Amino acid sequence: MWLAAPLAFEEVDRLVYLKAALSETLRLYPSVPEDSKYVMANDVLPDGTFVPAGSSITYSIYSAGRMKSVWGEDCLDFRPERWLSPDGKRFEPHDSFKFVAFNAGPRVCLGKDLAYLQMKSIAAAVLLRYRLTVAPGHRIEQKMSLTLFMKNGLRMNVQDRDLSSIATELSPSQPDVVAPAPVAEVVVATC
Ligand code: HEM
Repeated sequence: MWLAAPLAFEEVDRLVYLKAALSETLRLYPSVPEDSKYVMANDVLPDGTFVPAGSSITYSIYSAGRMKSVWGEDCLDFRPERWLSPDGKRFEPHDSFKFVAFNAGPRVCLGKDLAYLQMKSIAAAVLLRYRLTVAPGHRIEQKMSLTLFMKNGLRMNVQDRDLSSIATELSPSQPDVVAPAPVAEVVVATC
């Protein structure tokens, strides 16, 4: 039964909407919010800015993910659909020089594919089993540093998810659907 074991690679690979949602999350909340480069030789940026050798440049990945000129009028909306083909069936990546959460060019993040695999596996494992809601009254605040994280952690209510009806629909031949445990509510804190 598909809830009893971790998803196989092929199953994780098919989680197209989840990949779009994770990409949209990284666009608005990039794990690495800014990045610096050292200038080896005199150069001119595409907008005409001269950069002398020996200087360093910091670019804001956080801002690049929120620019109207790059992402359009709805740049601040969380809209996973911007990563999907019109029929919603395929993931359509944006150019890595536009979506810079993993850097771009020869120094692009070498762990990008592994990072997606890990994020999708963990998100699927948790979300298939639990419904998560932010604990009432909890203040979510970003904290900018080398990586972007949450100042007060993230206090969540965790509820068992009742998937028995969906599971029966998807696998009618498998009556061994595990009945979910009664709804429990716990609060966890992460930081
Ligand atoms: C969501 C997860 C991740 C994000 C957002 C991310 C982002 C980045 C960024 C922005 C850079 C460029 C840093 C720079 O040039 O200064 C980078 C480089 C790198 N990342 Fe990641 N990364 C992630 C996960 C991973 C994982 C899981 C691995 C390894 C398994 C990894 C391995 C690397 C390596 C080796 C580089 C250096 C590439 C080079 O300079 O040639 N990353 N990453």
